[in-house]
This record gives sequence, structure tokens and C-alpha cells, in this order.
Amino acid sequence: MDSIKQAVELARATENMPRQGERAPGLSAGVRPGSVDARTREVRLNSAHLESSRIVAHGASIEHGRYYDMLRTQVLQEMDKKSWQFLAVTSPTAACGKTVTACNLALSIARLPERLVLLVDLDLRKPAVAKYLGLGDTGGILSVLEGASPSSEIIQANIGPNSLLVLPGSVSSSGSSEWMASQTMSTLLQTIKRDFRSRIVIFDMPPILLGDDVISILPRMDAALLVAGVGTTSVSDIKECQKHLQRTPVVRVVLNKATESADSYYGYY
Ligand SMILES: Nc1ncnc2c1ncn2[C@@H]1O[C@H](COP(=O)(O)OP(=O)(O)OP(=O)(O)O)[C@@H](O)[C@H]1O
Ligand SMILES: [Mg+2]
Repeated sequence: MDSIKQAVELARATENMPRQGERAPGLSAGVRPGSVDARTREVRLNSAHLESSRIVAHGASIEHGRYYDMLRTQVLQEMDKKSWQFLAVTSPTAACGKTVTACNLALSIARLPERLVLLVDLDLRKPAVAKYLGLGDTGGILSVLEGASPSSEIIQANIGPNSLLVLPGSVSSSGSSEWMASQTMSTLLQTIKRDFRSRIVIFDMPPILLGDDVISILPRMDAALLVAGVGTTSVSDIKECQKHLQRTPVVRVVLNKATESADSYYGYY
């Protein structure tokens, strides 16, 4: 529980983090304005690296980025109506594009002046957020759950004038489903909900149908975004997912990896 206590402290400090160009409220002398905590790592994201991982929503003018901006608007409208904070990004099966979608959505939200976002990699089997964003080696969420100091685990990722917070993932060798269903995880999520209440929190999840990780955590989410992969997701996969999503509102279903865009269909290109 010690780690949770530290997480609470970190979270509180983090909420005082100023946006770019703002002064930090109550920062003591010697702590750099803009930092979450003296020990919190800041990473400047590299746009070439992002784009090589299909992360394109960090700039308004990057090709395909506007699809994520449209998704952002739709998702935020739904979430704001109900005052929802936690959004799970999941899919029926593997490799549908959940992580790409979660990172793009988070970066797109981070570009909105009045919005704050925290991206949490909750895939304890195949975490990929740190790799896609180019965050380098991290202990990640498992270190927090296992009791290591979390102060270096939340990363402030900066790109241009924007920034987002990221809690990267890590692989659990001792059973991801047990962690997902654990009281420790529940406490951590409650802590995040309370101490990051001004932020939309996006959770990058594993697939729903390949284990019970997502099923255990869905009751703690406010809403879900379902990513279906064209050519990989079948109608029966989606129907199977619906059974598990009966109590979790699905804000959007993203049809990912489609070769023909709506724009080309309507002749905009
Ligand atoms: N719209 C897209 N078009 C083409 N390729 C894509 C698209 N979105 C994602 N990909 C590619 O598909 C692969 C899987 O993407 P991603 O890691 O986001 O999927 P995932 O659902 O998170 O996978 P996992 O189930 O392993 O967590 C990656 O190589 C990614 O670059
Ligand atoms: Mg993934």
C-alpha cells in the first residue's frame, strides 16, 4: 500500500503541473516550472519517430491527423455529456490498432487548449505505448503496483507547445489477469480518478476476447472505445464483445485499417 500512498502524492503534485507557458502554482524554489515533480522525467517527443509508428495527431496539418481530431470531438462530446473521465480503448482481438488509436487520441486531446490528458498503458501482456511514443526505458505501471517508487513512472511527454502525461506499461510475468482484478489495481484506479480529476484518462487495453484482463477492469471504466480491424475483426467477434460491454457504454466503434477513406469515397481527393 506504500506505493499507492506515493502514487497519491505524485498524483497531487502532478495536478499542479502547469500547462506550457503558465506559471506553476506553489512550486518551491529550485523546482523547474513545467515539471510534475523534481524527479518526474520529461521527454520531448520526436515527430519522425511518432510518424514511423503511425502516430500523427500531434500536429493539425499532418496527413490523417484530422481523423483523430474528428474522433476526439465525438468522444469528448459523449464523455462531457455524462461527466465521464475514464475511457478504455480496446478491441475484440489482437493487432486491431488500439495502441495507435489511444496514442493518437491522447495527442489530439493534448492539442486542445483547455484539455488535460493522461494516457495509461494498461496492457500488461503487450505494452506498447512507450515504444510508439519513443519514451525510452521505463519501469511502468507494474513497478507502481509492485511497490517501487512511482515518482519516476509518470512521464511528461512534450511535443511542440503541448504536453500530456503518460503512465507507461510493463509486462507482468506473474499473471496479468490477477493484477487487473486485484485490490491494488482498484486502489490505483481510484487514486487516479480522484487526483487526476481534471484530466481525461485514456487506458490502452489488451483485446477483450483473448483473456479476462479487460472483462475484469471494464466495470471500473466510464466508457469504452472499440477498435475493429478491417480484415481482422469479424461480425461474430463484435457480437461476442457486445456481451461483455453491456454495462459499459461504447462511445464509438473505430473501423481501423480501412483502405478506402470516406474522403476518397466522397471524392474529396
Ligand atoms: N490504420 C492503420 N493502418 C495500417 N496499419 C495500422 C493502422 N493502425 C495500426 N496499424 C498497424 O497495426 C499494427 C498493430 O497496431 P497496434 O499496436 O496499435 O494494435 P493493437 O491493437 O494495440 O495490438 P495489440 O493487440 O498487440 O495490443 C502496428 O504495426 C500498427 O502500425
Ligand atoms: Mg496494443
